[in-house]
Amino acid sequence: MTKAEKERLARVGKTFNAKKYIKEEIDAIRAQVGDKKVLLAMSGGVDSSVCAVLLQKAIGKQLTCVFVDHGYMRLNEGKEIKKVFKGKFGINLICVDAEQRFLDKTKGVVEPELKRKIIGSEFVRVFEEESKKLGKIEFLGQGTIFPDIAESGVGGHKAVKAHHNVGGLPKDLGFEGLVEPVKYLYKDEVRKVGKLLGIPEELVMRQPFPGPGLAVRCLGELTKEKLDILRKADFIFRDEMAKAKLDKKAQQFFAVMTNVKSVGVVNGARTFGYVIAIRAVSTSQFVKAGIVELPFKFVSMVAEKIATKVKGVNRVVWDITPKPPATIEWE
Ligand code: XMP
Repeated sequence: MTKAEKERLARVGKTFNAKKYIKEEIDAIRAQVGDKKVLLAMSGGVDSSVCAVLLQKAIGKQLTCVFVDHGYMRLNEGKEIKKVFKGKFGINLICVDAEQRFLDKTKGVVEPELKRKIIGSEFVRVFEEESKKLGKIEFLGQGTIFPDIAESGVGGHKAVKAHHNVGGLPKDLGFEGLVEPVKYLYKDEVRKVGKLLGIPEELVMRQPFPGPGLAVRCLGELTKEKLDILRKADFIFRDEMAKAKLDKKAQQFFAVMTNVKSVGVVNGARTFGYVIAIRAVSTSQFVKAGIVELPFKFVSMVAEKIATKVKGVNRVVWDITPKPPATIEWE
C-alpha cells in the first residue's frame, strides 16, 4: 500500500471534501500513470462513470474507455452513455454492440447461475478482444469503491461476501497495474465527486444496477422479445416513480419479466400475455432490504399502464417480499 493510499484509508468515513479530493486524485493519477495509457471498462454505473471523468481530467487522451453493451441495458441507456461521455466530456469511448453475441451464448440457458457465469465470462472475452485491438495499454482502470474491498475483508474489515461484479475484470489480463481512483470512497462520496465533476444528476444519482443488468430480472431463457418487453415495462415504472417523487424513497426499484403467461381480456377478446412484477426496496447496505410501501393507488395505476401500454403484457404483480428470505434481484 502506498503512502497516499494509507492516508486515504485513514480518512475513510471522515468529513469529506470533494473539491480537495478531485485535485489530489488527479495529481495521484498523473504521478502513477506518467505518460502511459489506461483502459477502463465503463458500465454506465456511477462508480465507473466518475472514474472515467476523473481519469479524463487527469490524463486526457491517454485514457480509452470501453463500454460493452451486452443487450441487458435499460431503455436508451447505451445511447445516453455515448451522449454524455463521448459528447459532453469528449472521452475516447469505444462502444461495443455485443447484444447478438450474448443472446447467442445464452440461447436455451435457463439456470440462473449458469446464465450469470456465461455472461460474466463473455464480458471478459469481449473486453479482452477490444483491448487487444488497441495495442499496448499499461494500466487497467477500475471503479472499485470502499464497500467492495471492505466486503472482501481488506484493511482490517471483516469479509461479508466476495465482490461479484461483471465489470470486475480478472487481474491477469496482462496489465502492468491497476488505477482505482475511487477505491477509498463510499457511494455518497463518489456521488459528490461526480456532481462536482459535472456529471448529470440523473447519472450520478442513478440507482445501483447489477453488472449482468436486466439478465438477472428476466427469468427463463433470455430472448430479445422478452428483454424488450421488460425494458418498456421497467421504463414506465421508473418514470412514474420519478413523476410521483417516490424515487428517493427506494434504493432500488425495477420491473421483472417473470416468464409466466396468463390470460387477460381486451375489448372482449382473450389475450395470453406475460406477467410483469414490480419491486421497490429500501436498504442501507443491500444485505437486508425492506419493502417500500408505495401508495396503493399508485401501484394500481402503474399496473394498468404497463398492462395496457406494453404489448405482450396483460398482468402486473407487486413483489412485497423482504430480503431475506428473497434476494433483491430475482435471479
Ligand atoms: P441481491 O439480489 O443479492 O442483490 O439481494 C444485492 C445487491 O447487489 C446487486 N447485485 C449485483 N451487482 N453484479 C453486480 O454488480 C451482480 O452480479 C449482482 N447481483 C446482484 C443487486 O442489484 C443489489 O443491489
